[in-house]
Amino acid sequence: MRLMWAMLISAAVLVPAKGQTDGSYVPTEENLQNRKQFEVDRFGIFIHWGIYASYAQGEWYLNNASLNKDEYAQAARCFYPIKFNASEWVKAIKDSGAKYICITSRHHDGFSMFKTQASPYNIVDGTPFGRDILKELADACQAEGISLHFYYSILDWIREDYPIGRTGKGTGRKGDQQDYNSYLNFMKGQVKELLENYGNIRALWFDGYWDHDKDQPAFDWKMPEFYRYIHSISPACLIGNNHHISPLAGEDFQMFERDLPGENKAGMSGQEISRLPLEMCQTMNDMWGYKVADLNYKSVKDLVQLLVRAAGKGSNLLLNIGPRPTGELPELSIDRLKGIGEWMKQYGETIYGTQAGEMPEQEWGISTRKGDRLFLHIFSYQGTTLNVPIDQKVKQAVLYATQEKLKFKKEKDGTITITLPQESSGIDYVIELTTK
Ligand code: GLC
Repeated sequence: MRLMWAMLISAAVLVPAKGQTDGSYVPTEENLQNRKQFEVDRFGIFIHWGIYASYAQGEWYLNNASLNKDEYAQAARCFYPIKFNASEWVKAIKDSGAKYICITSRHHDGFSMFKTQASPYNIVDGTPFGRDILKELADACQAEGISLHFYYSILDWIREDYPIGRTGKGTGRKGDQQDYNSYLNFMKGQVKELLENYGNIRALWFDGYWDHDKDQPAFDWKMPEFYRYIHSISPACLIGNNHHISPLAGEDFQMFERDLPGENKAGMSGQEISRLPLEMCQTMNDMWGYKVADLNYKSVKDLVQLLVRAAGKGSNLLLNIGPRPTGELPELSIDRLKGIGEWMKQYGETIYGTQAGEMPEQEWGISTRKGDRLFLHIFSYQGTTLNVPIDQKVKQAVLYATQEKLKFKKEKDGTITITLPQESSGIDYVIELTTK
């Protein structure tokens, strides 16, 4: 018996903790708790907001139009989002059923949307507005019980010490003071402020790593050092990086840009799916930052189905809004938040805290599981029967919305066929199976 215990204990020590890829990073208990809650949440709202909103051409305008960085920076001097109201944002977002917000604290244009000692090019010291919008948002999130994540770009199109990568070549940097150690110190200073001055920040969401994908391995981001530094300040803080490659040691969740895990329509994915919590980010229209010409919003139906498909693949959805320079959320984005919220009020239980169903995505839709309850999310079906490949024994089938019992029968090939009532909700027809 003793021997057995000893063997069990040593086996437990040998098995790497979830997410520990190089043997050197062991997430703390609080970090694992945060990962768990992050997975339970399933739905978050991304906010891309910066002085680029003033130009209304999206967040890449400085690069795309090859503007001179100093001339571009003039936008800060008239940035005055007169309608900004953090608590209105958070309330509208909460009503959508989203459980967390991830906001751009600093994007590739190098402008900090928070008070920082590291550079005067920030919302408090560099604009007539003079208010720390991250602070106001952090307070509003805390009041509403919404978790807060900060997006942070590790690439910078204006700083002279940032080693120039494959983007932002036309912004007028001289290029004679490139010094990654100096830049890394600058970033460390900023993330320390972000983690210490805004209450509980559940995650840091990094972007821009791909700026140096053409000069690998010559260029070294020193991510292990950076991540260790972050976890030394806040061990519980989840680190994710939009590098479009497999997770690096020290990361706590894996993200996918514009594609669900396992898909690659946008051409930025294809990396292996890890055992870390997963998150997919997507735009409501086409652009992340506010773009005046972009009214190409996805429908509520498409967005709900995306959220459901994300959950069906065991992933969160981080859905983006680009607020106007006035500080308002565009009406179309509010409309989409409302639409998703109505659906989530009725069906949230089939999304929050679920795991991917065991069966792969089907022609008719996808499934999520919570304990012995398997939710079939049916987006389209023909006729009045539905064939479901399922290994477990099915005890009961009901229409989720009404709990009306549905007839089903076991086929010879092990699948079950469910008889459906005629009506369909249009967005997602949810059937709940109780399995053994
Ligand atoms: C890309 C873009 C960036 C955006 C991000 C969101 O990496 O460079 O503008 O913030 O995707 O996923």
